[in-house]
Amino acid sequence: MRYVVSGAAGFIGSTLAGTLQAAGHEVVGVDCLTDFYDPAEKEENARGLDVRRLDLAEEALDLDGVDGVFHLAAQAGVRSFGDVFPLYVRRNLIATQRVFEAAAAAGLRVVFASSSSVYGEAEAYPTPEDTPPSPVSPYGITKLGCEHLAHAYSAAFGLDAVVLRYFTVYGPRQRPDMFFRRVCEALLTGETFEIYGSGEQSRSFTYVDDAVAATIAAMERAPAGAVYNVGGGEEATMLEAIALLEQVSGRALDVQHVGPAKGDVSRTKADVARIGAALDWEPRTPLAAGLAAMWSWASATVAAG
Ligand SMILES: NC(=O)c1ccc[n+]([C@@H]2O[C@H](COP(=O)([O-])OP(=O)(O)OC[C@H]3O[C@@H](n4cnc5c(N)ncnc54)[C@H](O)[C@@H]3O)[C@@H](O)[C@H]2O)c1
Repeated sequence: MRYVVSGAAGFIGSTLAGTLQAAGHEVVGVDCLTDFYDPAEKEENARGLDVRRLDLAEEALDLDGVDGVFHLAAQAGVRSFGDVFPLYVRRNLIATQRVFEAAAAAGLRVVFASSSSVYGEAEAYPTPEDTPPSPVSPYGITKLGCEHLAHAYSAAFGLDAVVLRYFTVYGPRQRPDMFFRRVCEALLTGETFEIYGSGEQSRSFTYVDDAVAATIAAMERAPAGAVYNVGGGEEATMLEAIALLEQVSGRALDVQHVGPAKGDVSRTKADVARIGAALDWEPRTPLAAGLAAMWSWASATVAAG
């Protein structure tokens, strides 16, 4: 198959593109290498892939001869209040509307990367997909807006869209603003690690290869219009996760508590029964094994400069 992967120079998109390519698919990557984090890191992620520099918020997406679109390009990160908000509107809502428009016109399936952030402080844990969404960050609001756009384009133009709500994805290439990446870097440099709030916040941490497997299964086998949680099997608090990384690395982290971050939720826990039943997917990577893989990547990356 020939697939477009948007956000193909990013953390999850590049891992997805590499996995698809290794499975024999042809991948056309699209990314404008925003400066949300160092574009040199994205160049490195994109090595060995065909990633075209294109800004989806304003340039046309050519879908000729394509069999499906994985739409992962976005402005990620829940710290989205204030002056950065227009970037979230542009890179999430505007870019996604244009991708849906093009995919609907071409009659192609889009697998859209949404987020557990749409739930906010969820009404139920584990959280099933029909829990009323109530995002508490502007980021989550733009992701929910994109989900509504998928629905509107399906109703009006027959768009074939599948929505995946990823829960905190981690592993090699994780974005530098994310928790595990920051912990690894602090362990490597010996710098003090600033943790937001008490550290008792917990997450359904999801290993990147598991997230990628769910994403490919969604393209290949999901019914049109499906919405699935993609979440790790083990919930852990930030402090528990730090303890695991300390064990894996054999180093101690110097932790300093700072105020809670606005837009962060206290807990996420995915209910993955729906995707399990429909796509026979389940998270396979135990947190300790995933963190060991992430640590070897992070230490090799730092050693390489
Ligand atoms: N990492 C997670 O834990 C997580 C959790 C939930 C949802 N998601 C979603 O998964 C997707 C991938 O996340 P990630 O962590 O790999 O982020 P990332 O920032 O590493 O990758 C996103 C990529 O999209 C590109 N991009 C942004 N705007 C673009 C535009 N207008 N045109 C072309 N390219 C553009 C960026 O340059 C970047 O390389 C995102 O949609 C994100 O919201 C991620």
